[in-house]
Amino acid sequence: MQQIKWVGGAVVGASMLLAGSSAFAVTIGFSQVGDEGDWRPAFSADMKAEAQKEGIDLKFADAQGKEEEQLKAVRAFIAQKVDAILIAPVVVTGWDAVLKEAKAAGIPVFLADRDVDVADKSLYVTRISADFNLEGRLAGAWLAQASKGQCNIVEEQGTTGSAPAIERKKGFEAVISNFPAMKIVKSQSGDFTTDGGKQVMESFIKATDNLKGICASFAHNDNMQLGAIQAMKEAGLKPGKDVLMVSVDYVPAMKKALADGEANASVELRSAIGKYIYPVITGWLKDKKELPKWVVIPSDLHHAAVAAD
Ligand code: AHR
Repeated sequence: MQQIKWVGGAVVGASMLLAGSSAFAVTIGFSQVGDEGDWRPAFSADMKAEAQKEGIDLKFADAQGKEEEQLKAVRAFIAQKVDAILIAPVVVTGWDAVLKEAKAAGIPVFLADRDVDVADKSLYVTRISADFNLEGRLAGAWLAQASKGQCNIVEEQGTTGSAPAIERKKGFEAVISNFPAMKIVKSQSGDFTTDGGKQVMESFIKATDNLKGICASFAHNDNMQLGAIQAMKEAGLKPGKDVLMVSVDYVPAMKKALADGEANASVELRSAIGKYIYPVITGWLKDKKELPKWVVIPSDLHHAAVAAD
């Protein structure tokens, strides 16, 4: 798949239209997943602030984690004849019909953060997001090194059927499959929430006699890991010491857990990404030049030694 990457605020491999200002009078309908953890509300706040800064009329719809709410919101945006529709899809499936309706109405659709699984890729212009598979691989590589390639792992998965849950799992497994003594021994969805992560870890603690023989917890986001940390502490365990804790997002509460020694590594998912997303949309609206299907936002690994970054 052709990709372009943001390097130090500029775009490599894309036409110059992307490097320009997005100041352009447009109305964008944005269907957001919800507010399931600390990362998502930070992303929503940035999208609103950045829209205001750029003079974009943003119609924001919170789907509260439900795809059916997103379908309704997208249909409402079509009826309102917005200039563009932006979707952060809850799950990858179920999008073909509504995207065809947007296309028939002549309204371009862009994806932010999460992906969709549609046979006809012409139904959306492009996706602007981090590489979830890379995040999983970074987490796996960090753990392989920290555990010297020997580790029984419990995994808290994100929302079933969502792009980050699918891709982070794939990336993580791709790395650990190179180490015969690394394996995922328990895996369950905690739906990207703190409560979900806590409940999942409580069930892992029960099922493994207080995490006996478990060397690491890999959570698809920080909030589930923060819930897992609570569950472990309540069971008298020492997260970050008895068990290695690696997750994704690098939200402020995780930075604190890293500094406190209760977590060991987190892969950063940037939340202030409106500055990447809007110029792509407004640039395309100006000249309609074909874009690659994926504009990649980079990810970084942070671990306890650099938690103060
Ligand atoms: O789609 C990105 C993921 O969604 C973030 O990692 C997570 O915190 C959120 O729920």
